[in-house]
Amino acid sequence: MEIIRIPRIMREASREYLVRGRTLGFVPTMGALHEGHLSLVRMSKEENAITAVSIFVNPLQFGPSEDFSRYPRTVDEDIEKLRNEDVDILFLPAETLMYPEGFATVVEVKELSEKMCGRYRPGHFRGVLTVVAKLLIILRPTRAYFGQKDYQQTVLIRKMTKDLGLDVEIIVCPTIREHDGLAMSSRNAYLGKEQRAAATTLYRALSQASAAVKAGARSGEAVRAIMQAELSKEALLTGIDYASVFSPETLEETPEIAGKVLLAIAARLGSTRLIDNMLVAP
Ligand code: PAF
Repeated sequence: MEIIRIPRIMREASREYLVRGRTLGFVPTMGALHEGHLSLVRMSKEENAITAVSIFVNPLQFGPSEDFSRYPRTVDEDIEKLRNEDVDILFLPAETLMYPEGFATVVEVKELSEKMCGRYRPGHFRGVLTVVAKLLIILRPTRAYFGQKDYQQTVLIRKMTKDLGLDVEIIVCPTIREHDGLAMSSRNAYLGKEQRAAATTLYRALSQASAAVKAGARSGEAVRAIMQAELSKEALLTGIDYASVFSPETLEETPEIAGKVLLAIAARLGSTRLIDNMLVAP
């Protein structure tokens, strides 16, 4: 595996691959890699001649009171995992090369960014889209891979690439779960033993809501109540940002379930914010 730290070199390397007519799959990450990330890598390897992964803990997407400084950084283990997966390139840029002094450009998708998590994490998606746009411009991949767990992020990235005419296919891969249903996330590492057990409440609430929709529930309010009832049983939850039924396209809450819907939860266990979702059709 080639490790590239300089954006200019990364740009030249991927341009060379593309000139040779080879397809390039790209998995952007912030490291602390788990099976969820590795499933994206495997999908990319299946679909492309070359697979590149980036590890960059992007300061722009963390709010001032969020967990940037304590975000897990496990680069040596990550490199080992990527070598085991036979990844071709690891792009590992330094912050000063991604955001040199005077960096002043941001990418924003209006309206959609303000729904769901956007209400609770102002500026977060601006940071995500700015770094993803920058990475896509440096690497020019044929396909880029993201997990469904960050559903709103995938909607925004699709919209951004369409609006900006970036020539890349965005592939969204299923959420990978622990044996008890908890969606894999680098932030799960923050959870103490009791919180880790409590975290499965998100999966239970989503599963019950999903079963209700499949069994014929058509009222958004009724399905929301099912999720809230399950979450309220968990004493360790310290806050629920949302637990609701959304349109998968507009990300608006839906009063009536007529077609495919997004069931999604963002909740807090102490200082750890967890998100999860399921897409379900009646
Ligand atoms: O999903 C993530 O890990 C990050 O938001 C991403 C896409 C790597 C951008 O920093």
